Amino acid sequence: MPNLLTVGQVSDIPLETVRHYDIEGEPVVIAHTSEGFFALEDRCSHADVALSEGELDGCMLECWLHGAVFDVRTGVPATLPALVPVKTYDVFADPSNPEGPIEVNPTPNPIQSKGK
Ligand code: FES
Repeated sequence: MPNLLTVGQVSDIPLETVRHYDIEGEPVVIAHTSEGFFALEDRCSHADVALSEGELDGCMLECWLHGAVFDVRTGVPATLPALVPVKTYDVFADPSNPEGPIEVNPTPNPIQSKGK
């Protein structure tokens, strides 16, 4: 069983929004989508800016600086100019319980390769 960290509660991140967290010294962005909660490294792989300052559209998070779009489910960029996926983290939260916890496994998942 992974060592989960509670970072907040479900109501902290309204549907269709994202929020930045520092988790064990790493910048992490958590997205609340209609498919659930997803966590990514909060650092664009193109030029090292915070993805949490970008726009979430469904499960796609657009970097504000040059417009690369990342799939929050996989960390894989769907568009240029980013070429390299970002880390993802497992998140556990029940969207139907606003007062329930948002828990994150601070150990990142293996980076997915583009195209998977
Ligand atoms: S810094 Fe994100 S697309 Fe360039």
